[in-house]
Amino acid sequence: MDRIRIVGGQSLEGTIPISGAKNAALPLMIASLLTQETLTLENTPSVADVGMLLQILSHHGVDYSVDGRRPGDAPQAARTLHLSARRIVDITAPYDLVAKMRASFWVVAPLLARMGEARVSLPGGCAIGTRPVDLLIMVLEKLGAKIDIEAGYVHARTKSGLKGAEIHFPKVTVGGTHTALMAASLAQGHTLITNAACEPEVADLAACLIKMGAKIKGAGRPTIEIEGVASLQGAHHAVVPDRIETGTYAIAVAMTGGDVLLERASPELLQNALDALAQAGADISHSNEGIRVRRNGSGIEPVDIETAPFPGFPTDLQAQFMALMTKAKGRSRITETIFENRFMHVQELARLGARIKLDGDVAHVEGVAELQGAPVMATDLRASVSLVIAALAARGETIVNRVYHLDRGFEHLEKKLGRCGAIVERISGAG
Ligand code: UD1
Repeated sequence: MDRIRIVGGQSLEGTIPISGAKNAALPLMIASLLTQETLTLENTPSVADVGMLLQILSHHGVDYSVDGRRPGDAPQAARTLHLSARRIVDITAPYDLVAKMRASFWVVAPLLARMGEARVSLPGGCAIGTRPVDLLIMVLEKLGAKIDIEAGYVHARTKSGLKGAEIHFPKVTVGGTHTALMAASLAQGHTLITNAACEPEVADLAACLIKMGAKIKGAGRPTIEIEGVASLQGAHHAVVPDRIETGTYAIAVAMTGGDVLLERASPELLQNALDALAQAGADISHSNEGIRVRRNGSGIEPVDIETAPFPGFPTDLQAQFMALMTKAKGRSRITETIFENRFMHVQELARLGARIKLDGDVAHVEGVAELQGAPVMATDLRASVSLVIAALAARGETIVNRVYHLDRGFEHLEKKLGRCGAIVERISGAG
Protein backbone atom coordinates (compact mmCIF):
# COMPACT_ATOMS: atom_id res chain seq x y z
CA MET A 1 0.00 0.00 0.00
CA ASP A 2 1.35 3.43 -0.92
CA ARG A 3 1.99 6.16 1.61
CA ILE A 4 2.48 9.89 1.21
CA ARG A 5 5.27 11.75 2.99
CA ILE A 6 4.86 15.46 3.55
CA VAL A 7 7.23 17.93 5.16
CA GLY A 8 5.17 20.94 6.19
CA GLY A 9 5.91 24.64 6.24
CA GLN A 10 6.14 25.61 2.56
CA SER A 11 3.71 28.12 1.09
CA LEU A 12 2.08 27.16 -2.22
CA GLU A 13 2.84 29.21 -5.35
CA GLY A 14 1.91 28.40 -8.94
CA THR A 15 -0.85 26.86 -10.99
CA ILE A 16 -2.96 23.77 -10.33
CA PRO A 17 -5.04 22.41 -13.22
CA ILE A 18 -8.46 21.31 -11.98
CA SER A 19 -9.64 17.93 -13.26
CA GLY A 20 -13.09 16.83 -14.33
CA ALA A 21 -15.35 16.02 -11.39
CA LYS A 22 -15.22 12.42 -10.22
CA ASN A 23 -18.78 12.75 -8.89
CA ALA A 24 -20.02 13.85 -12.31
CA ALA A 25 -17.92 11.36 -14.29
CA LEU A 26 -19.35 8.36 -12.42
CA PRO A 27 -23.07 8.93 -13.19
CA LEU A 28 -22.18 10.05 -16.73
CA MET A 29 -20.31 6.80 -17.33
CA ILE A 30 -23.27 4.86 -15.92
CA ALA A 31 -25.57 6.72 -18.34
CA SER A 32 -23.75 4.98 -21.18
CA LEU A 33 -25.84 1.89 -20.28
CA LEU A 34 -28.95 3.77 -21.46
CA THR A 35 -28.03 3.63 -25.17
CA GLN A 36 -26.77 1.22 -27.80
CA GLU A 37 -24.69 4.02 -29.30
CA THR A 38 -21.33 5.42 -28.17
CA LEU A 39 -21.15 7.99 -25.39
CA THR A 40 -17.92 10.01 -25.46
CA LEU A 41 -16.86 11.73 -22.25
CA GLU A 42 -14.05 14.27 -22.30
CA ASN A 43 -12.21 15.59 -19.26
CA THR A 44 -12.68 12.39 -17.26
CA PRO A 45 -10.34 12.36 -14.23
CA SER A 46 -7.73 9.58 -13.94
CA VAL A 47 -8.75 8.41 -10.50
CA ALA A 48 -9.17 4.93 -9.10
CA ASP A 49 -12.99 5.16 -8.92
CA VAL A 50 -13.19 5.76 -12.68
CA GLY A 51 -11.00 2.69 -13.29
CA MET A 52 -13.16 0.64 -10.95
CA LEU A 53 -16.38 1.74 -12.65
CA LEU A 54 -14.92 0.84 -16.06
CA GLN A 55 -14.46 -2.70 -14.71
CA ILE A 56 -18.02 -2.78 -13.44
CA LEU A 57 -19.47 -1.45 -16.71
CA SER A 58 -17.44 -3.99 -18.73
CA HIS A 59 -19.05 -6.69 -16.66
CA HIS A 60 -22.45 -5.49 -17.95
CA GLY A 61 -21.18 -5.52 -21.53
CA VAL A 62 -19.87 -1.97 -22.07
CA ASP A 63 -16.93 -1.78 -24.49
CA TYR A 64 -14.67 1.19 -23.92
CA SER A 65 -11.58 2.89 -25.21
CA VAL A 66 -9.51 5.69 -23.73
CA ASP A 67 -7.71 8.43 -25.63
CA GLY A 68 -6.59 12.00 -25.17
CA ARG A 69 -3.23 11.30 -23.54
CA ARG A 70 -0.18 11.63 -25.80
CA PRO A 71 3.45 10.80 -24.99
CA GLY A 72 4.96 13.84 -23.30
CA ASP A 73 1.61 15.18 -22.05
CA ALA A 74 1.48 16.27 -18.43
CA PRO A 75 0.39 13.33 -16.27
CA GLN A 76 -2.80 15.15 -15.38
CA ALA A 77 -3.77 15.55 -19.05
CA ALA A 78 -7.46 14.86 -19.26
CA ARG A 79 -8.69 11.62 -20.71
CA THR A 80 -11.45 11.00 -23.18
CA LEU A 81 -13.54 7.87 -22.72
CA HIS A 82 -15.65 6.25 -25.42
CA LEU A 83 -18.27 3.95 -23.89
CA SER A 84 -20.47 1.69 -25.91
CA ALA A 85 -23.20 -0.54 -24.44
CA ARG A 86 -24.34 -2.01 -27.74
CA ARG A 87 -25.43 -5.20 -26.01
CA ILE A 88 -26.00 -5.60 -22.29
CA VAL A 89 -24.73 -9.05 -21.40
CA ASP A 90 -25.41 -9.18 -17.66
CA ILE A 91 -28.09 -7.41 -15.60
CA THR A 92 -26.53 -8.47 -12.28
CA ALA A 93 -24.08 -6.22 -10.44
CA PRO A 94 -22.38 -8.57 -7.99
CA TYR A 95 -21.46 -7.83 -4.40
CA ASP A 96 -17.68 -7.97 -4.91
CA LEU A 97 -17.88 -5.12 -7.45
CA VAL A 98 -20.60 -2.93 -5.90
CA ALA A 99 -19.07 -3.22 -2.41
CA LYS A 100 -15.93 -1.47 -3.67
CA MET A 101 -17.76 1.61 -4.83
CA ARG A 102 -21.16 2.71 -3.61
CA ALA A 103 -22.01 4.79 -6.67
CA SER A 104 -22.00 1.64 -8.80
CA PHE A 105 -25.39 0.83 -7.25
CA TRP A 106 -26.76 3.50 -9.63
CA VAL A 107 -26.45 1.04 -12.55
CA VAL A 108 -29.79 -0.29 -11.32
CA ALA A 109 -31.63 2.58 -13.06
CA PRO A 110 -30.34 2.23 -16.64
CA LEU A 111 -30.30 -1.59 -16.49
CA LEU A 112 -33.93 -1.63 -15.37
CA ALA A 113 -35.02 1.08 -17.82
CA ARG A 114 -33.38 -0.57 -20.80
CA MET A 115 -33.64 -4.28 -19.99
CA GLY A 116 -36.74 -4.39 -17.76
CA GLU A 117 -34.76 -6.12 -15.02
CA ALA A 118 -31.72 -5.50 -12.78
CA ARG A 119 -30.17 -7.40 -9.88
CA VAL A 120 -27.80 -5.16 -7.98
CA SER A 121 -26.04 -5.88 -4.71
CA LEU A 122 -26.70 -3.52 -1.83
CA PRO A 123 -23.62 -1.25 -1.63
CA GLY A 124 -20.71 -0.80 0.74
CA GLY A 125 -18.45 2.23 0.08
CA CYS A 126 -17.02 5.00 2.29
CA ALA A 127 -17.41 4.47 6.02
CA ILE A 128 -19.44 7.63 6.60
CA GLY A 129 -22.67 6.65 8.24
CA THR A 130 -25.22 4.07 7.23
CA ARG A 131 -25.92 5.52 3.76
CA PRO A 132 -29.16 3.72 2.94
CA VAL A 133 -30.63 3.30 -0.56
CA ASP A 134 -34.31 3.39 0.47
CA LEU A 135 -34.97 6.56 -1.55
CA LEU A 136 -33.39 5.09 -4.69
CA ILE A 137 -35.68 2.08 -4.30
CA MET A 138 -38.63 4.43 -3.73
CA VAL A 139 -37.84 6.08 -7.11
CA LEU A 140 -37.88 2.73 -8.95
CA GLU A 141 -41.12 1.66 -7.26
CA LYS A 142 -42.83 4.97 -8.11
CA LEU A 143 -41.85 4.43 -11.73
CA GLY A 144 -43.64 1.08 -11.61
CA ALA A 145 -40.87 -1.44 -10.85
CA LYS A 146 -41.48 -4.43 -8.62
CA ILE A 147 -38.69 -4.65 -6.07
CA ASP A 148 -37.59 -7.65 -4.03
CA ILE A 149 -34.64 -7.70 -1.66
CA GLU A 150 -33.09 -11.16 -1.88
CA ALA A 151 -29.87 -12.29 -0.21
CA GLY A 152 -28.33 -8.82 -0.16
CA TYR A 153 -29.45 -7.99 -3.68
CA VAL A 154 -32.07 -5.55 -4.95
CA HIS A 155 -34.01 -7.33 -7.68
CA ALA A 156 -35.96 -4.80 -9.75
CA ARG A 157 -38.35 -5.86 -12.53
CA THR A 158 -40.94 -4.37 -14.80
CA LYS A 159 -43.09 -6.38 -17.22
CA SER A 160 -44.48 -3.57 -19.34
CA GLY A 161 -41.76 -0.92 -18.94
CA LEU A 162 -41.35 1.98 -16.52
CA LYS A 163 -44.12 4.58 -16.31
CA GLY A 164 -43.69 8.30 -15.54
CA ALA A 165 -44.76 9.34 -12.02
CA GLU A 166 -44.62 12.06 -9.38
CA ILE A 167 -41.54 11.60 -7.19
CA HIS A 168 -41.09 13.70 -4.05
CA PHE A 169 -37.86 13.28 -2.13
CA PRO A 170 -38.40 13.69 1.65
CA LYS A 171 -34.64 14.34 1.87
CA VAL A 172 -32.33 15.79 -0.77
CA THR A 173 -30.33 12.97 -2.34
CA VAL A 174 -27.82 13.24 -5.17
CA GLY A 175 -27.86 9.51 -5.95
CA GLY A 176 -31.66 9.42 -5.76
CA THR A 177 -31.91 12.31 -8.22
CA HIS A 178 -29.41 10.67 -10.63
CA THR A 179 -31.47 7.46 -10.42
CA ALA A 180 -34.73 9.30 -11.14
CA LEU A 181 -33.21 11.22 -14.09
CA MET A 182 -31.84 8.08 -15.75
CA ALA A 183 -34.87 5.86 -15.16
CA ALA A 184 -37.52 8.47 -16.03
CA SER A 185 -35.75 9.43 -19.26
CA LEU A 186 -36.71 6.02 -20.68
CA ALA A 187 -40.10 5.70 -18.88
CA GLN A 188 -43.40 6.12 -20.72
CA GLY A 189 -44.97 9.52 -20.05
CA HIS A 190 -44.33 12.42 -17.74
CA THR A 191 -42.32 12.47 -14.48
CA LEU A 192 -42.30 15.29 -11.96
CA ILE A 193 -39.49 15.31 -9.39
CA THR A 194 -39.75 17.63 -6.39
CA ASN A 195 -37.09 18.43 -3.78
CA ALA A 196 -34.49 17.19 -6.28
CA ALA A 197 -30.77 17.64 -5.55
CA CYS A 198 -29.44 20.82 -7.23
CA GLU A 199 -25.76 19.79 -7.20
CA PRO A 200 -23.80 20.76 -10.34
CA GLU A 201 -23.13 17.07 -10.99
CA VAL A 202 -26.90 16.49 -11.30
CA ALA A 203 -27.15 19.36 -13.80
CA ASP A 204 -24.17 17.89 -15.68
CA LEU A 205 -25.79 14.46 -15.93
CA ALA A 206 -29.03 16.07 -17.17
CA ALA A 207 -27.13 18.14 -19.76
CA CYS A 208 -25.57 14.95 -21.13
CA LEU A 209 -28.89 13.06 -21.09
CA ILE A 210 -30.45 15.94 -23.06
CA LYS A 211 -27.67 15.60 -25.67
CA MET A 212 -28.58 11.89 -25.79
CA GLY A 213 -32.17 12.82 -26.64
CA ALA A 214 -33.81 12.94 -23.20
CA LYS A 215 -36.49 15.56 -22.55
CA ILE A 216 -35.59 17.09 -19.19
CA LYS A 217 -36.48 20.56 -17.86
CA GLY A 218 -35.32 22.22 -14.66
CA ALA A 219 -32.28 20.09 -13.69
CA GLY A 220 -30.11 22.04 -11.25
CA ARG A 221 -33.30 23.32 -9.57
CA PRO A 222 -35.52 21.54 -6.99
CA THR A 223 -38.31 20.78 -9.48
CA ILE A 224 -37.46 18.71 -12.54
CA GLU A 225 -39.82 17.58 -15.29
CA ILE A 226 -39.07 14.71 -17.64
CA GLU A 227 -40.99 13.49 -20.66
CA GLY A 228 -39.92 9.92 -21.33
CA VAL A 229 -38.61 8.87 -24.75
CA ALA A 230 -38.47 5.39 -26.34
CA SER A 231 -34.70 5.32 -26.79
CA LEU A 232 -31.60 7.44 -26.34
CA GLN A 233 -28.67 7.98 -28.69
CA GLY A 234 -24.92 8.49 -28.40
CA ALA A 235 -23.46 11.90 -27.49
CA HIS A 236 -20.28 13.82 -26.79
CA HIS A 237 -19.96 15.54 -23.42
CA ALA A 238 -17.22 17.20 -21.34
CA VAL A 239 -17.28 16.52 -17.59
CA VAL A 240 -17.80 19.63 -15.39
CA PRO A 241 -14.72 20.79 -13.38
CA ASP A 242 -14.35 19.23 -9.94
CA ARG A 243 -15.66 21.69 -7.34
CA ILE A 244 -14.44 19.50 -4.47
CA GLU A 245 -10.91 19.34 -5.86
CA THR A 246 -11.09 23.10 -6.42
CA GLY A 247 -12.22 23.73 -2.84
CA THR A 248 -9.60 21.36 -1.46
CA TYR A 249 -6.70 23.19 -3.11
CA ALA A 250 -8.22 26.58 -2.28
CA ILE A 251 -8.31 25.52 1.38
CA ALA A 252 -4.73 24.23 1.12
CA VAL A 253 -3.56 27.67 -0.07
CA ALA A 254 -5.52 29.38 2.71
CA MET A 255 -3.77 27.01 5.12
CA THR A 256 -0.17 27.41 3.92
CA GLY A 257 -0.32 30.94 2.53
CA GLY A 258 0.86 31.69 -0.99
CA ASP A 259 -0.68 32.43 -4.37
CA VAL A 260 -2.16 29.76 -6.64
CA LEU A 261 -4.25 29.83 -9.81
CA LEU A 262 -6.78 26.97 -9.90
CA GLU A 263 -6.98 26.57 -13.64
CA ARG A 264 -10.41 25.95 -15.23
CA ALA A 265 -12.17 26.21 -11.85
CA SER A 266 -15.58 27.94 -11.79
CA PRO A 267 -16.57 30.00 -8.74
CA GLU A 268 -20.33 29.43 -9.20
CA LEU A 269 -19.77 25.73 -8.48
CA LEU A 270 -18.63 26.46 -4.92
CA GLN A 271 -19.51 30.05 -4.03
CA ASN A 272 -20.53 29.19 -0.46
CA ALA A 273 -17.16 27.55 0.30
CA LEU A 274 -15.26 30.42 -1.36
CA ASP A 275 -17.19 32.91 0.80
CA ALA A 276 -16.20 30.94 3.93
CA LEU A 277 -12.57 31.00 2.79
CA ALA A 278 -12.72 34.74 2.19
CA GLN A 279 -14.05 35.17 5.73
CA ALA A 280 -11.14 33.07 6.95
CA GLY A 281 -8.78 35.59 5.36
CA ALA A 282 -8.08 34.25 1.86
CA ASP A 283 -8.10 36.66 -1.04
CA ILE A 284 -10.14 35.13 -3.85
CA SER A 285 -10.56 36.42 -7.39
CA HIS A 286 -11.53 34.84 -10.68
CA SER A 287 -11.00 35.30 -14.38
CA ASN A 288 -11.46 33.29 -17.59
CA GLU A 289 -8.45 31.22 -16.57
CA GLY A 290 -9.90 30.06 -13.26
CA ILE A 291 -9.88 31.01 -9.59
CA ARG A 292 -6.89 32.67 -7.91
CA VAL A 293 -6.43 32.13 -4.17
CA ARG A 294 -3.95 34.11 -2.08
CA ARG A 295 -3.20 34.52 1.58
CA ASN A 296 -0.32 36.57 2.81
CA GLY A 297 0.83 37.70 6.21
CA SER A 298 -2.09 37.71 8.60
CA GLY A 299 -3.34 34.48 10.13
CA ILE A 300 -6.51 32.43 9.65
CA GLU A 301 -9.74 33.82 11.11
CA PRO A 302 -12.14 31.34 12.74
CA VAL A 303 -15.34 30.76 10.71
CA ASP A 304 -18.38 28.66 11.64
CA ILE A 305 -19.79 26.48 8.89
CA GLU A 306 -22.72 24.10 8.50
CA THR A 307 -22.88 21.60 5.66
CA ALA A 308 -25.99 21.61 3.47
CA PRO A 309 -27.13 20.43 0.04
CA PHE A 310 -26.05 22.65 -2.88
CA PRO A 311 -25.75 25.66 -2.92
CA GLY A 312 -24.82 25.30 0.77
CA PHE A 313 -21.40 24.36 2.14
CA PRO A 314 -20.55 20.92 0.67
CA THR A 315 -20.18 18.01 3.06
CA ASP A 316 -17.31 16.84 0.85
CA LEU A 317 -15.28 19.91 1.94
CA GLN A 318 -16.13 19.69 5.64
CA ALA A 319 -13.03 17.70 6.65
CA GLN A 320 -10.72 19.98 4.67
CA PHE A 321 -12.24 23.13 6.19
CA MET A 322 -11.88 21.63 9.64
CA ALA A 323 -8.17 21.10 8.95
CA LEU A 324 -7.91 24.82 8.11
CA MET A 325 -9.72 25.80 11.31
CA THR A 326 -7.25 23.82 13.44
CA LYS A 327 -4.81 26.70 12.89
CA ALA A 328 -7.32 29.57 13.15
CA LYS A 329 -6.91 32.40 15.66
CA GLY A 330 -9.75 31.23 17.92
CA ARG A 331 -12.75 28.90 18.10
CA SER A 332 -14.97 27.68 15.31
CA ARG A 333 -18.00 25.40 15.06
CA ILE A 334 -18.39 22.89 12.26
CA THR A 335 -21.81 21.29 11.89
CA GLU A 336 -22.34 18.23 9.69
CA THR A 337 -25.97 17.90 8.62
CA ILE A 338 -25.71 15.45 5.68
CA PHE A 339 -23.97 12.33 7.01
CA GLU A 340 -23.78 10.98 10.54
CA ASN A 341 -20.35 9.68 11.50
CA ARG A 342 -18.48 11.95 9.11
CA PHE A 343 -15.97 13.07 11.70
CA MET A 344 -13.52 10.18 11.35
CA HIS A 345 -10.75 12.66 10.55
CA VAL A 346 -11.00 14.28 14.01
CA GLN A 347 -8.91 11.67 15.79
CA GLU A 348 -6.26 11.75 13.10
CA LEU A 349 -6.12 15.57 13.08
CA ALA A 350 -5.67 15.34 16.86
CA ARG A 351 -2.52 13.28 16.24
CA LEU A 352 -1.10 16.36 14.50
CA GLY A 353 -1.90 18.50 17.54
CA ALA A 354 -5.37 19.77 16.63
CA ARG A 355 -7.80 20.57 19.45
CA ILE A 356 -11.28 19.41 18.50
CA LYS A 357 -14.24 18.40 20.69
CA LEU A 358 -17.15 16.49 19.24
CA ASP A 359 -20.70 17.01 20.40
CA GLY A 360 -23.11 15.01 18.22
CA ASP A 361 -23.09 16.52 14.76
CA VAL A 362 -21.03 19.54 15.86
CA ALA A 363 -17.25 19.78 16.08
CA HIS A 364 -15.82 22.58 18.23
CA VAL A 365 -12.37 23.49 16.96
CA GLU A 366 -9.94 25.50 19.07
CA GLY A 367 -7.22 26.86 16.81
CA VAL A 368 -3.60 26.16 17.82
CA ALA A 369 -0.48 28.14 16.89
CA GLU A 370 1.32 25.14 15.51
CA LEU A 371 0.60 21.60 14.27
CA GLN A 372 3.26 18.93 14.39
CA GLY A 373 3.89 16.20 11.84
CA ALA A 374 3.07 12.58 12.78
CA PRO A 375 2.10 9.29 11.15
CA VAL A 376 -1.63 9.33 10.37
CA MET A 377 -4.15 7.05 8.71
CA ALA A 378 -6.50 7.97 5.88
CA THR A 379 -10.02 6.77 6.74
CA ASP A 380 -12.12 7.90 3.80
CA LEU A 381 -11.68 9.92 0.65
CA ARG A 382 -12.31 13.45 1.92
CA ALA A 383 -10.98 12.80 5.42
CA SER A 384 -7.66 11.68 3.99
CA VAL A 385 -7.13 14.88 2.05
CA SER A 386 -7.85 16.90 5.21
CA LEU A 387 -4.80 15.20 6.73
CA VAL A 388 -2.73 16.28 3.73
CA ILE A 389 -3.87 19.88 4.22
CA ALA A 390 -3.00 19.82 7.92
CA ALA A 391 0.37 18.17 7.16
CA LEU A 392 1.25 20.92 4.66
CA ALA A 393 1.15 23.43 7.50
CA ALA A 394 2.56 21.20 10.25
CA ARG A 395 6.11 21.37 11.56
CA GLY A 396 8.18 18.40 10.43
CA GLU A 397 7.26 15.20 8.68
CA THR A 398 3.85 13.55 8.30
CA ILE A 399 3.31 10.13 6.77
CA VAL A 400 -0.23 9.57 5.50
CA ASN A 401 -0.97 5.84 5.42
CA ARG A 402 -3.68 4.07 3.39
CA VAL A 403 -3.40 6.47 0.49
CA TYR A 404 -5.71 4.35 -1.67
CA HIS A 405 -8.56 6.40 -0.23
CA LEU A 406 -6.98 9.54 -1.74
CA ASP A 407 -6.37 7.83 -5.07
CA ARG A 408 -10.08 7.07 -5.37
CA GLY A 409 -10.87 10.73 -5.97
CA PHE A 410 -7.81 12.95 -6.39
CA GLU A 411 -5.84 12.92 -9.63
CA HIS A 412 -2.05 13.21 -9.15
CA LEU A 413 -2.42 15.02 -5.85
CA GLU A 414 1.25 14.88 -4.89
CA LYS A 415 2.35 16.10 -8.33
CA LYS A 416 -0.09 18.99 -8.35
CA LEU A 417 1.00 20.10 -4.86
CA GLY A 418 4.70 19.39 -5.52
CA ARG A 419 4.74 21.71 -8.54
CA CYS A 420 3.53 24.52 -6.28
CA GLY A 421 6.43 24.08 -3.85
CA ALA A 422 5.05 21.58 -1.34
CA ILE A 423 7.46 18.93 -0.11
CA VAL A 424 5.39 15.85 -0.82
CA GLU A 425 6.30 12.44 -2.17
CA ARG A 426 4.65 9.08 -2.66
CA ILE A 427 6.35 6.11 -1.08
CA SER A 428 5.29 3.11 -3.11
CA GLY A 429 4.40 -0.29 -1.83
CA ALA A 430 5.14 -0.12 1.89
CA GLY A 431 2.83 0.30 4.89
C1 UD1 B 1 -23.08 11.92 -3.31
C2 UD1 B 1 -21.60 12.08 -3.52
C3 UD1 B 1 -20.88 12.26 -2.18
C4 UD1 B 1 -21.51 13.42 -1.42
C5 UD1 B 1 -23.02 13.24 -1.30
C6 UD1 B 1 -23.71 14.46 -0.68
C7 UD1 B 1 -21.07 10.80 -5.52
C8 UD1 B 1 -20.39 9.62 -6.11
N1 UD1 B 1 -21.07 10.89 -4.17
O1 UD1 B 1 -23.28 10.73 -2.55
O2 UD1 B 1 -19.50 12.50 -2.44
O3 UD1 B 1 -20.96 13.47 -0.11
O4 UD1 B 1 -23.59 13.05 -2.62
O5 UD1 B 1 -23.43 15.61 -1.39
O6 UD1 B 1 -21.58 11.66 -6.22
N2 UD1 B 1 -30.03 9.01 1.87
C9 UD1 B 1 -31.06 8.27 2.38
N3 UD1 B 1 -31.63 7.31 1.58
C10 UD1 B 1 -31.22 7.11 0.30
C11 UD1 B 1 -30.16 7.89 -0.23
C12 UD1 B 1 -29.59 8.84 0.59
O7 UD1 B 1 -31.46 8.43 3.53
O8 UD1 B 1 -31.78 6.23 -0.37
C13 UD1 B 1 -29.40 10.03 2.73
C14 UD1 B 1 -27.92 9.75 2.99
O9 UD1 B 1 -27.73 8.84 4.03
C15 UD1 B 1 -27.43 11.14 3.33
C16 UD1 B 1 -28.27 12.04 2.42
O10 UD1 B 1 -29.41 11.26 2.05
O11 UD1 B 1 -27.73 11.43 4.67
C17 UD1 B 1 -27.58 12.52 1.18
O12 UD1 B 1 -27.02 11.42 0.49
P1 UD1 B 1 -26.86 11.41 -1.09
O13 UD1 B 1 -27.01 12.82 -1.59
O14 UD1 B 1 -27.75 10.39 -1.67
O15 UD1 B 1 -25.36 10.96 -1.26
P2 UD1 B 1 -24.74 10.10 -2.42
O16 UD1 B 1 -25.49 10.33 -3.69
O17 UD1 B 1 -24.57 8.71 -1.95
